[in-house]
Amino acid sequence: MADLQVTFITTPEEMAEALVVRMRVFVEEQGVPVAEEVDRYDTDPASNTTAVHVLGRLDGVAVATARLLLDAQKGEYPHIGRVAVLAEHRGRGFGVAVMRALQDEARRRGFAGITLSAQLHAIPFYERLGYVVRGPVYLDAGIEHRDMDLAFA
Ligand code: COA
Repeated sequence: MADLQVTFITTPEEMAEALVVRMRVFVEEQGVPVAEEVDRYDTDPASNTTAVHVLGRLDGVAVATARLLLDAQKGEYPHIGRVAVLAEHRGRGFGVAVMRALQDEARRRGFAGITLSAQLHAIPFYERLGYVVRGPVYLDAGIEHRDMDLAFA
């Protein structure tokens, strides 16, 4: 079985590949409105100072993505979001692989941990990575979420 190749996105073409994955997962599968799915963090990677994105490829084809937002206030954790693996490739560790790449990047940049907004069904996935829930359930894009944090050891 082929391994997932995880790389940081550096070109508009790679960004477009990531958005294809996100459109399939969040817009087509989960019903998130397109207008809410793509935002100011999804701009040309060459000039984007507020987010880094990763792409997971299998035999050259994009199947997974996630992004780390860098505009956390001093003392706050940066946010990982838009974690998506195409449905037919789930359960093979690809979600963990893209998460680990961004966690390593956050650590390298001197952050002390990560925060994220977890869809309720994905809480066990993040708990396996060490994240802990914080606060109540709330709605975002019509989907129930809870905040979760990971403090780096
Ligand atoms: N519920 C419970 N456990 C889950 C899970 C879920 N929804 N998704 C994954 N896991 C578990 C796996 O069983 C695995 O456990 P194991 O190590 O004991 O085998 C572990 O978490 C790692 O799973 P992995 O194979 O890396 O996850 P994945 O590649 O299937 O990706 C998501 C997980 C959540 C990214 C993927 O299901 C997805 O894209 N979902 C739709 C988009 C979405 O909801 N994203 C999250 C928004 S907050």
